[in-house]
Amino acid sequence: MPMRHQPLVEKAPAEVVERLVDLACLAPSVHNTQPWRWRYDDARLVLEADLDRRLPAEDPRGRNLTLSCGAALHHLEFAARAMGWETHVLVLPADRDPAVLAEVLVSRVHQRAAVRSDLDLLRTRCTDRRRFTAWPVPDDRLHELCRVAEQWGTRAEAVTSDAARIRLELLANRALTFLEIDGRRMLEQEQWIDRAGTDGIPLGLLPADPEPLQARSRFRPGLLEDTRMVIHGGDRVIAIGGASDDIGGWLRSGQAMSAVWLEATRSGMSLIPMSQPIEVESVRHEVARSVLRDVPEPHILLRIGWQAIGRSGLPRTPRRPLHEVFVRHA
Ligand SMILES: Cc1cc2nc3c(=O)[nH]c(=O)nc-3n(C[C@H](O)[C@H](O)[C@H](O)COP(=O)(O)O)c2cc1C
Repeated sequence: MPMRHQPLVEKAPAEVVERLVDLACLAPSVHNTQPWRWRYDDARLVLEADLDRRLPAEDPRGRNLTLSCGAALHHLEFAARAMGWETHVLVLPADRDPAVLAEVLVSRVHQRAAVRSDLDLLRTRCTDRRRFTAWPVPDDRLHELCRVAEQWGTRAEAVTSDAARIRLELLANRALTFLEIDGRRMLEQEQWIDRAGTDGIPLGLLPADPEPLQARSRFRPGLLEDTRMVIHGGDRVIAIGGASDDIGGWLRSGQAMSAVWLEATRSGMSLIPMSQPIEVESVRHEVARSVLRDVPEPHILLRIGWQAIGRSGLPRTPRRPLHEVFVRHA
């Protein structure tokens, strides 16, 4: 009987794994908390949530933290593919330490060429909070992005009808009011702005006056909900979630968010996560009930639009040095 050749599996050298982790850490994270830790023991790369970086007031269950780690996991998988490697991912391994989110093996059977443009995407993706142009992203492009999200085992839905968009904007506004009157949450959020270090959101990336076209009222804000204040022509929203609101779903939604964001960046679109309507539980339920049809448990909303052509580039948000987030055992 002829001998059958087993294909030779080449394990990625530690230097390659280290490079991949560095690229994974370019992922978006809530308030740029970068709540992840990576461990490599020569065969397995382990992704852990850094629970010291959880936001107890705004994110008590760790939904946004897990979404951020899911985005980093997808960034790693995407970077590996772009560099010609394959990843085998086991999420939430059995008998795990509660912080462990995934184990990854990086290897390849055949040499494949690196895709430079995909590596560049990881570096160009960013959160640009400047106002989008009035030209909306066409519905079919939004539906394509939803299909991208669903490849990660999530449910995704584009909010396209005027009625649903207005309803969502009112709810987003209501969530902001809830957050603004909650001293604990406001204090926590404030702690992540302008830290001048390797994490948090630099002041220079937050719009100076988010509503420059709105006539100022002489009175302090009341309770009347006004759609004129909140609807901007070009903004469209995609919701990502699933059938349940748990850690496995959040991890998948984080991977899906990253996949959608990179794909949108490739097509020249801009994306801003909008987590405040999800952070207020009563508003999250109302979004699921009165805005969405196909996503029973929304985990994150993504505002999508086009930036004006010729708009200036933005400085990158900082990242923690690799040695703080990556441990390599001999
Ligand atoms: C789960 C999650 C929730 C986020 N929520 C918001 C949000 O509500 N508003 C916002 O402006 N940015 C939000 N962001 C964007 C982060 O602030 C941003 O990713 C981080 O500051 C890093 O910047 P970068 O995306 O430019 O790399 C969120 C990001 C993630 C991953």
